[in-house]
Amino acid sequence: MINLNLPKSFNNLPHVLSIDQFSKDNINSFLDFVSHVEHNQHLFLDSLKGKILATLFFEASTRTRLSFESAMFKTGGQVITVEDGNSSSIKKGESLEDMGKVVSQYADIIVVRHPEVLSCNKIAETAEVPVVNAGDGGHEHPTQALLDLYTIKKEKNNFDGLKIGFFGDLKYARSANSTIKALAKYNTTFSFISQEGFELSDELTLSLQENEYAIHDPSKLEEALKECDVLYVTRLQKERILAQKRSTEFSFLTKSHLKHSKSDLMILHPLPRVDEMDKDIDNDPKAFYFKQAKNGVYVRMALLNVLLAS
Ligand code: CP
Repeated sequence: MINLNLPKSFNNLPHVLSIDQFSKDNINSFLDFVSHVEHNQHLFLDSLKGKILATLFFEASTRTRLSFESAMFKTGGQVITVEDGNSSSIKKGESLEDMGKVVSQYADIIVVRHPEVLSCNKIAETAEVPVVNAGDGGHEHPTQALLDLYTIKKEKNNFDGLKIGFFGDLKYARSANSTIKALAKYNTTFSFISQEGFELSDELTLSLQENEYAIHDPSKLEEALKECDVLYVTRLQKERILAQKRSTEFSFLTKSHLKHSKSDLMILHPLPRVDEMDKDIDNDPKAFYFKQAKNGVYVRMALLNVLLAS
């Protein structure tokens, strides 16, 4: 079993709240461990026997909640869940801090998704077990970043020298935020392709001091794609955008944009996809987003084992 030596910020516990907690070495060791788990699943059938995962979801999810739950069952553990925050006592006015304290009496680990930035930190402050951020508003989605990197590593073997394009809503997409921060730890270069009003935040752009990057208008998508090894597509995060901006016509990836792309381009998308890409792309060997979603189970099996064994 590996030890990630994550900073133990609250209650001396190894919470996973931000991808910033992971060094490049942490990520490399963790991805090696995920590969070990994927290829030796029989060794982990009972690894979490007797352990309970609580999933607290205050926002919709298919992949994150179900892949965490699947990961727990595949490793012999059990799951209790709040799949709609409004069915919990938060509805009556209970604080996230109190919820964290109480749920940690019932479970060995807590996975939380919430629409508010840093909400998972509030739960972690009082929890007596590890807490994992499964998405806090438009801020972070660290386990998505780990599964995105795992998917890239499986195909490309390493990250150094890769050019990664990010296309779509880069302002409100927490998956892209965390994945860009993780990839920036390597010798990668970036192309950011987003329309006005949906650009990467200044804070994240300024943090990319050691990585070259270019910013493109969506009308230059085909041109920008020519040199990319990976294209990461994100949907318009309608739930985080004011109605007036939501009506903006959003750019759309079609098969014809891929005409001059590299033969080994990987197209990733954290999903759900809505109306930012042509479904015809699904049959193209460059489409990796369903494999990416499957890798979420291996990444979460590995993470639960690491956190519960610490
Ligand atoms: N990628 C992702 O977070 O998907 P869900 O919203 O379905 O969990």
